[in-house]
Amino acid sequence: MRVDTGQVFKLEDYRPSEFLIPETKLTFNLHPTKTLVQAELTIRTRSGQPPNAALVLDGDELELRSLAINGKVLDAASYTATPDRLTINELPQADTFTLVIETEIAPEHNKALSGLYRSSGNYTTQCEAEGFRRITYFLDRPDVLSVYTVRLEADSKETPLLLSNGNLVERGPVESGALDSGRHYAVWHDPFPKPSYLFALVGGDLGSIKDSFTTVSGREVELGIYVEHGKEERAAYAMDALKRSMRWDEEVFGREYDLDVFNIVAVSDFNMGAMENKGLNIFNDKYVLADEATATDADYAGIEAVIAHEYFHNWTGNRITCRDWFQLCLKEGLTVFRDHEFSADQRSRAVKRIAEVRGLRAQQFPEDQGPLAHPVRPRRYREINNFYTSTVYEKGSEVVRMIRTILGAEDFRRSMDLYFERHDGDAATIEDFLRVFEEVSGRDLSQFALWYHQAGTPSVQVAMRHDADKREVTLHLEQALAPTPTESRKRLMHIPLQFGLVGQDGRDIAAKPAGDGVEGDVIHLRKRHQTIRFTDVSERPVLSINRGFSAPIMLAMEQTAEDRIFLARHDSDLFARWQALTTLYTQALTQAYRTIRGGGTPEFEPALLALVGDTAGNEALEPAYRALALSLPGEGDIAREIGQTIDPDAILQARNALVLAIGSANADGFAAIYDEMAASGPFSPDAANAGRRSLRNVLLDYLSAPAGDVKRAASQYESATNMTDRAAALAVLAHRQSGSPEAVAALADFESRFRAEPLVIDKWFQIQATVPGTATVDTVRELMRHSGFSIDNPNRVRSLVGTFAAANQTAFHAADGSGYKLFADAVLEVERRNPQVAARIATSFRSWRSLEPGRQDKARQALVAISQHKDLSSDLRDIVERTLA
Ligand code: PHE
Ligand code: ZN
Repeated sequence: MRVDTGQVFKLEDYRPSEFLIPETKLTFNLHPTKTLVQAELTIRTRSGQPPNAALVLDGDELELRSLAINGKVLDAASYTATPDRLTINELPQADTFTLVIETEIAPEHNKALSGLYRSSGNYTTQCEAEGFRRITYFLDRPDVLSVYTVRLEADSKETPLLLSNGNLVERGPVESGALDSGRHYAVWHDPFPKPSYLFALVGGDLGSIKDSFTTVSGREVELGIYVEHGKEERAAYAMDALKRSMRWDEEVFGREYDLDVFNIVAVSDFNMGAMENKGLNIFNDKYVLADEATATDADYAGIEAVIAHEYFHNWTGNRITCRDWFQLCLKEGLTVFRDHEFSADQRSRAVKRIAEVRGLRAQQFPEDQGPLAHPVRPRRYREINNFYTSTVYEKGSEVVRMIRTILGAEDFRRSMDLYFERHDGDAATIEDFLRVFEEVSGRDLSQFALWYHQAGTPSVQVAMRHDADKREVTLHLEQALAPTPTESRKRLMHIPLQFGLVGQDGRDIAAKPAGDGVEGDVIHLRKRHQTIRFTDVSERPVLSINRGFSAPIMLAMEQTAEDRIFLARHDSDLFARWQALTTLYTQALTQAYRTIRGGGTPEFEPALLALVGDTAGNEALEPAYRALALSLPGEGDIAREIGQTIDPDAILQARNALVLAIGSANADGFAAIYDEMAASGPFSPDAANAGRRSLRNVLLDYLSAPAGDVKRAASQYESATNMTDRAAALAVLAHRQSGSPEAVAALADFESRFRAEPLVIDKWFQIQATVPGTATVDTVRELMRHSGFSIDNPNRVRSLVGTFAAANQTAFHAADGSGYKLFADAVLEVERRNPQVAARIATSFRSWRSLEPGRQDKARQALVAISQHKDLSSDLRDIVERTLA
């Protein structure tokens, strides 16, 4: 485990490496506890002159076996080797030499799942960000690009499959005289220079499905997806998504695949979602395996998105990589943008956009507004693993989206073409990226660039006045950005706001702006205060602004409930329409919260309840959209709206009260639509069918809210023919009718049906971990002893412990502190094996300061207890200390 050294890495300290490694030849003799790694590195000085300094290579928990330069074994005096560094002081007086390093590692004992490890008996690697240094000593930094040739040797029976990056060169039995050695080998060569974080190997015994893809220029690419034996059929959807991704990238971004093979391997122990290793993507199996009996529609959508994401990295990440880890958003934000666009094209654009914004608000906004806030491109880190955040990924994507909004689709595409052409083969920076857009469009993006450099979510206030006599509309806009932990003073941002002035007939008025600041349907807010006038407007319009969520901001608009209801019914922008309804919900919920805190009983506007009923039954809207329109803000969203001294119990009560009010005001209508949305015909995971299921399941939740109304959910559970409907019914029973015989029976049934399916048991854990109320603390403690739980497996840990802290406000924040205590203990137990996963789930503490004082105090105690452990990993110490600061 890498313990904290207190070292802080700074962007301004970046220096190119003095040494390059143009060629890397690796030989692996795979063995569970004694894997021998031989690295033959061609080292060259950047200057072309003999070296004038020592060669210092990175390591992490390494054990050196031998060391030779140009064929000569080095004597002990000429180097020093520690587990985390190899320093060679005596080097040949030449600009190029060959270094051979032998290390020995034990994949079986690697529970951190970084470097080379074993998962279900298979060998696999994870090298991003700094895992390669756990395999051999290397210049383990993304700007050192090398051409890799990899020879793998393993037991032929136990490990028949041997994969690495690039193309297969040769394979065969390992000869040992006349005897059968029982071992075999394979050699892989990747012609594209790449950084070490993109290296991968897999050795194992796996089943596979194969397919092929013909690229635009007519090249045949062999496609393979490798999964646990017996699960081959469950990889079909992933394969389909892969082929659609490959075609889409050709059509939309002009990007063609470049190797003869593209392989994907699914493993069941994986720290993240998946990894874009060149030609050999390695996936968390949850993003590969799906069939109707075990995967929900959300799982299918997740698979489609992650398959696309990792594939798209081939150009944005691999062909053009990052100069240093501060530039992480260069590949991640851009690639998320690309996978969002892909999903929008495959499904419904409006539905996809709403889902993205919900996710952004639920994950990224709290990060940006809490102790862990950092810019999309950070300037400092102690532990890079902790910067795979929703700010870097999702806000990073929003920034790219804004660039497209500012430039327009055409200039955006021309700029991207230039980016690929100019930087292919480079390790690039955000400055390089921004430059292509400036050059192509002739625009100055220097103020816009602050989106990369300043942390925090800007807020914008808007007010509209209509002067009937002058036939004029005036918009007043004001922007503000609150200080964040390391930045007390903020500069003004360039905020692109898509807008429309909606006339009484629901159509946008073609109003003429007077003065600058408006281009087409986009307002460019650049100053603190900005006033925009429109002339020739006779009737009073309703303002629709930040359409499509064109900027990731918090918007406060002076607008009456009548105007919002009007927008929710008539806005031509479907996102804005959803937003108008969501704002109405939010206002109703915060008001109900205050009423409950004051000891009263909340009441809700009949106009709102009727609007919800009408929206549910509006057949002009697709079911998936209606489902989102009926989904109330989550407890976390409401908490953020309230801001301070939060009482999670009152939030839950307020939300439940609104669910009940909406459900009872529309009971008959909802029941009719519920029946109407029932499946006809065979199962299909496509967007239309998934949309019908999602509307039906949202309605089920409303219809099952009144105490004792278990029938519909119980019968849906029993008759379900797919996992979406089954899991939704189970969640409704467990959450709305917790403790009822029907809920208890369904939970038991689910467990016995799916005991042998870990990914499904994760759903069972999740549903139980999110049952509201303090009793869930004990449930989670017990489930941690369930035979299906494993503290070593990231998916199990996340679905039970992670979900509990991230998605159960009333239990995690139990007033007596028992939720914090349970969670802190679990985090420490995970940390001893897997610091990355521990640090990631520990970020759930980030909102602790917004709670009421009693809970704040208990949360602080739990955080302090963690921080007082000695030998804490750099990962967890970094998170805990920033959270407490
Ligand atoms: N780079 C991976 C992605 O596509 C994420 C990842 C990071 C995976 C670090 C493993 C380790 O987003
Ligand atoms: Zn990525």
